[in-house]
Amino acid sequence: MGKTVAEKIIKTHLVDGKMTKGSEIGIKMDQTLTHDVTGTLAYLAFESMKIPKVKTEFSISYVDHNLLQVDYKNMDDHLFLKSTAEKFGVHYSKAGNGICHSVHYQRYAVPGKTLIGSDSHTTTTGGLGVLAIGAGGMDVAMAMAGEAFHLTMPFITNVVLTGELKPGVAPKDIILELLRRLSVKGGLGKIMEYTGEGIKSLRVPDRATITNMGAELGATTSIFPSDEMTRKFLKAQGREEDWTEILPDENAVYDEVIEIDLNELEPMIAKPDMPDNVVPVKECSHVKVDQVYIGSCTNASYSDIKKAAVMLRDKTVHPDVSFILSAGTRQTFQELIRDGVIQSLVTSGARIMEPGCGACVGIGQAPNSGGVSVRTSNRNFKGRSGTMDAHVYLASPEVAAAAALTGYIEDPRRVFNSRELAAFVEPTKYLVDDSQVIKPKNKHTDEVEILRGPNIKPLPINEGITETLKAHVVSKLGDNMTTDDIIPAGSIFSSLRSNVPEISKITFGRIDPNFVERTQQYKKSIIVGGENYGQGSSREHAAIAPMYLGVKAILAKSIARIHKANLINFGILPLIFRDKKDYEYIARDDELEVVQIINQIKNKKISIRNNTQNLIIETVLDISDREAELLIAGGRLNYVKQKNQI
Ligand code: F3S
Repeated sequence: MGKTVAEKIIKTHLVDGKMTKGSEIGIKMDQTLTHDVTGTLAYLAFESMKIPKVKTEFSISYVDHNLLQVDYKNMDDHLFLKSTAEKFGVHYSKAGNGICHSVHYQRYAVPGKTLIGSDSHTTTTGGLGVLAIGAGGMDVAMAMAGEAFHLTMPFITNVVLTGELKPGVAPKDIILELLRRLSVKGGLGKIMEYTGEGIKSLRVPDRATITNMGAELGATTSIFPSDEMTRKFLKAQGREEDWTEILPDENAVYDEVIEIDLNELEPMIAKPDMPDNVVPVKECSHVKVDQVYIGSCTNASYSDIKKAAVMLRDKTVHPDVSFILSAGTRQTFQELIRDGVIQSLVTSGARIMEPGCGACVGIGQAPNSGGVSVRTSNRNFKGRSGTMDAHVYLASPEVAAAAALTGYIEDPRRVFNSRELAAFVEPTKYLVDDSQVIKPKNKHTDEVEILRGPNIKPLPINEGITETLKAHVVSKLGDNMTTDDIIPAGSIFSSLRSNVPEISKITFGRIDPNFVERTQQYKKSIIVGGENYGQGSSREHAAIAPMYLGVKAILAKSIARIHKANLINFGILPLIFRDKKDYEYIARDDELEVVQIINQIKNKKISIRNNTQNLIIETVLDISDREAELLIAGGRLNYVKQKNQI
């Protein structure tokens, strides 16, 4: 039987299990990436394993999320990351060099390799034919230690693109259309693999926009073949030798096929507050706009920004709009400066930020209260922009440029003529300058001292499991709770990084202000959630902070993949209602009791006695035998330490 692109890569990296859909497999990870917010915990975990150097082919530590320097914390933490990189044999991409995913596909991704990153949008690099998966920092630390990464063998969905995008319609509209059709849960347990005539006209940065937002579908990852377009891109990056052709076999069998005719596609927009709340742009016409942001790892390539510059050339941004712009990488920024694009945008009224995440994650440039922000980024969850009641719309650079000019959401085809909307070719030769990436010097590990400012705190470890658990329901939540709801992104969280005692104080702060107080009152507690609990970013702080506060289990209708793995890594039980209707028979502050926990974990079914309402609730643990062992050990670090007698 023929193989898909994803199956070919999995097959060459398989170290554990069989490639049967739905069963657990372990794959070797060739590359790792971390960023400043999730990286500190990952390197603390790696350090605690007492392994002198990383065992991967290539590992890199990016600083891209929080570049503000309002006090000592960020600079101190960046120095911690620099020194751990040097000590453990990891490359270090300095602040200002760009967003991890964008730099990675430009400079370091290699088709056919595997990549694990402590960020959910690690999937971006799938645009270059890499099997790239987002995970928690602990999983990345384990990959650096040479351990396999375990996941459920995904189902593979073939997204067949036919036709060609028309002027004014962008690659972003392809992924928005998929989100419209499938929802934020549509990719769960799946790899989205793109094929068809339509992919031939999509360049690597366009493909990266699509694979980036595969994370919003909830997909394990997304991937394009490594074809002639990939070769051209790598050649333009001066690294053609990294190219190998990887195409699906002609008789490859997919689990599901979805077709999108690019000729028929029109400009789309995701309305507040979910990336799948997608409609054609024309349905939002005349919504007044306060802020426009072109940037992020989704849409900040050379052509994304040049397109906007051409549309706005010799025009001035609407007086009521604050227009923010940030190139994805230093490479792109340098090219845009060289080609006069930045000059032209500044003349039009753009405010230029340094290459980095910033506004995407609410670190600076928060919109006005109740304001409308049109963004080219990938998430519009409530509060992510830094302003709780802002209304964030997600769209292409074309739609963003139209909003910047007119002050309203408009179909760009109504605002610009076809010459202004013409597609742009990426450079045939990129400006290559890796001077802001520090290579490891191969020093003996004892010669390097790790620099720890006062903000670096030790990684908290779970106290372990007890045979009987008596705990209270500390909070009862609805569907689609995001990791941003648990630990809000933004400058407070992202400057605290490894300082879990401080971070824990903001847990659920935005939606349940007395949450922390109640955890202190109860000591041991359980959170009850609805569907898709913990969707969104890979930030493991959303598991660690509750663990630190004494949360022993999450009991939900379903739990998002990365978050479930993070809960297990930190010894929190990810329990699923056997009968979803039982959600109704549990209330906040109820006392719950579980006996003979270890046996029940081994059987992957847990009976909970609700002492307050005097009834039994049956739950299941959708975990592998390996994960059951991790939970019994009290989390992954405890497990490794017990195994290696550290
Ligand atoms: Fe950064 Fe936003 Fe991407 S936080 S990694 S630009 S999703």
